[in-house]
Amino acid sequence: MIAYPDKLDLAQTPTPFYPLERLSAQLKELNGARIWIKRDDLTGAATSGNKIRKLEFLLAEALANGCDTVITSGGVQSNHCRAVALLGAQLGLNVHLLLRSDTEPQPVGNLLLDHLAGATINHYSPAEFKRLDSLFKHWTDHYQQQGSKAYSIPTGGSNGTGIWGYIRAAEELAADFARHSLNPQAIVHATGSGGTQAGLMLGCYMHGIQTAVKAYAVCDNSAYFVHKINADLKDWKRRYPSEIDISSLKAAATCDDYIGPGYGQAGPEVFEFIKQLAALEGILLDPVYTGKAFFGLVEDIKKGKYANDESRDIVFVHTGGLFGLFAQQQNLGY
Ligand SMILES: Cc1ncc(COP(=O)(O)O)c(C=O)c1O
Repeated sequence: MIAYPDKLDLAQTPTPFYPLERLSAQLKELNGARIWIKRDDLTGAATSGNKIRKLEFLLAEALANGCDTVITSGGVQSNHCRAVALLGAQLGLNVHLLLRSDTEPQPVGNLLLDHLAGATINHYSPAEFKRLDSLFKHWTDHYQQQGSKAYSIPTGGSNGTGIWGYIRAAEELAADFARHSLNPQAIVHATGSGGTQAGLMLGCYMHGIQTAVKAYAVCDNSAYFVHKINADLKDWKRRYPSEIDISSLKAAATCDDYIGPGYGQAGPEVFEFIKQLAALEGILLDPVYTGKAFFGLVEDIKKGKYANDESRDIVFVHTGGLFGLFAQQQNLGY
């Protein structure tokens, strides 16, 4: 029995889990596998995606610490920041977003929702963003001087507390697998700040799931994720001492072949895939995270990288991100 820390009840869970029959039929012709989808894009309407699972634990800690303000950071189209802005409004907390803006920020997609949620927003250039720690400190001191107490959430909510979200999601997956008598060969998802990956890896270990966790990077390379996931796991162990031996986990397995031009930028093949999957299965992907990851998975299936005699089942965890699509709709060619 796992002793979870306190959490808020914010996400719509358990999320649906089912096979993508038409896509799988297409892949079968290519000696492919059977793809199942875990719909974590349905964890909420405006608060949808993977971040809300982490925020159930992080915001519980913020409230338990008596904080009235939350400071967090991310890219200008951050799904995480959008979820924090809306959940903060839902809980009556002030939200302050530190956003990395490479170009003049347009109030579209997630940024539009940040504004609607009433968040305080500061835009910083990539050069300024390199001093992120001092920006957090500056604003924390600012709120303290005003008699407020701010709780800081790192980019993507990925730290020892946030990863509980996907430890718990792994428990849900264990129930999904049992219901369908499945023993999939891989659980696949997009990785950015590493918390989903760390949580799934640790969660599978804690819940006795043998399936490998395979992530597709959208920005940094695979070596970065080995390091980042180790750091998050160590942070978890430090905050929540237990018998669990994190050194027995395998190193993070991350594919960095499909990052494309860079973070937030996808090639035409990803946009084409987004259109195909929407029409084939009614599943909406985004160009920043899930589009790249799902495209990468299908390409790798075609290349035979998932050929496995024991299990042809592969699970794609859809981590959300829909609003990012509206910030790039010109790339869809309509
Ligand atoms: C839609 C979406 N998918 C995947 C990820 C990656 O999750 P993580 O930051 O936990 O690696 C993010 C956030 O970065 C996201 O917004």
